Amino acid sequence: MTKRTVKVGLCGLGTVGQGVLALLVEGNAAISARSAAHLVVTHIGTRTPRPEVDIGDAQDSRDVFAVARDPEVDVLIELIGGTTVAKELVIEALQQKKHVITANKALLADHGGELFALAEQQGVSLKYEAAVAGGIPIIETVRASLAANEVTSVAGIINGTGNFILTAMASEGRAFDDVLQEAQRLGYAEADPTFDVDGTDAAQKLVLLASLAFGAAIPADAPFKQGVDSVAPEDLEFAKELGYRIKHLGIAQRDAETIQLRVHPTLIPEGKAIAQVDGVLNAVMINGTGVGELLLVGPGAGSRPTASAVCGDLVSIAGSLARDESPATPSMGVPIADLDSASITHIDDVSTGWYLRLDAEDKPGVMASITKCLSEKGIGIESLIQKPEASASADVPVIIVTDRATTRCLNDAVSTIEAMSSVVGRVTCLRVENFD
Ligand code: HSE
Repeated sequence: MTKRTVKVGLCGLGTVGQGVLALLVEGNAAISARSAAHLVVTHIGTRTPRPEVDIGDAQDSRDVFAVARDPEVDVLIELIGGTTVAKELVIEALQQKKHVITANKALLADHGGELFALAEQQGVSLKYEAAVAGGIPIIETVRASLAANEVTSVAGIINGTGNFILTAMASEGRAFDDVLQEAQRLGYAEADPTFDVDGTDAAQKLVLLASLAFGAAIPADAPFKQGVDSVAPEDLEFAKELGYRIKHLGIAQRDAETIQLRVHPTLIPEGKAIAQVDGVLNAVMINGTGVGELLLVGPGAGSRPTASAVCGDLVSIAGSLARDESPATPSMGVPIADLDSASITHIDDVSTGWYLRLDAEDKPGVMASITKCLSEKGIGIESLIQKPEASASADVPVIIVTDRATTRCLNDAVSTIEAMSSVVGRVTCLRVENFD
């Protein structure tokens, strides 16, 4: 049987782009069998020359738009990153009726509505499996495999760099900056790692995942964000002593009329499977009305895992083209115009357990006044540790884990505690989720 040749244009030859080329070469026979198509990368666009990368017989352009306008190209893979040129490139490719695959979560979180609508209008596909949780096939799982479920919550470790940092700090006692530099060397972190550290990268992925899972249009700035850099080495130690692990989570949850969206370090009981997911691994825990609780674990960043997700999208498009079917499926599960407009729960109204760490004078009555303050605000205490004096200083660390309380109520109590003359400096506040 003659196989249809599907011609691929690849824009960007960084960490992921090189992984895509490698997987397409290594897996050529299997990919060809699975898609019933012959996949050929015919045109590569990089804004700076990459002579060190073997691009075979592909045309090599410095102008990425030349790839989008190449009449031979069926599918354009956008891996240049950023949200300005990348947006123009994707628009140009869609206008040229190319199917587009991107790993660019920032682009889709900021401009997804417009780009998905354009793809629908043009009758082409815009796929983004690699944009969320690297190698875990979470987008297709939610879009297709879980289509019979109403998803009630999604909680995940969705930034590999952050998990890599917290794991190395907790298990090897390494310094934050040292581990971050290693994550950059290994190609896990973004070129500018600010978004890995401050929670923006996880928030962008959460916006995409929650939009798809809840069928809702969600603005990029909707999630509450607290970065991985708000966790001190002593928090990891105290959490362990209390039977918890700290993970940086993205959480999306349906409330009665609204949706919670938040990204923050979270204490999780060490017995929960997601608490054991270490290193660059990501994990996404989904609750659906049919399936119950599902946990998908896998590499969340890096060249080959992310390339695996890109190639999965490519094989899916190529298979449809080979069968003379339209590969265009609604990117968000339903047409963009049919997404609900989401109303977001204010973070002040979100209720969780809390871990508090503070330094207090070691003298009679101090603990009583702190616990009294929490009790007066209606916040129950689940556990409490007062460490012995470590040095000549009269101050001792006090660690408290509370029952559930809203952010508003907790902040109110913490302001009162910080104003006490016997309490030194600020109180560290991290959220606790038991997932029971
Ligand atoms: N910088 C991202 C991470 C890459 O660490 O998860 C994958 O999106």
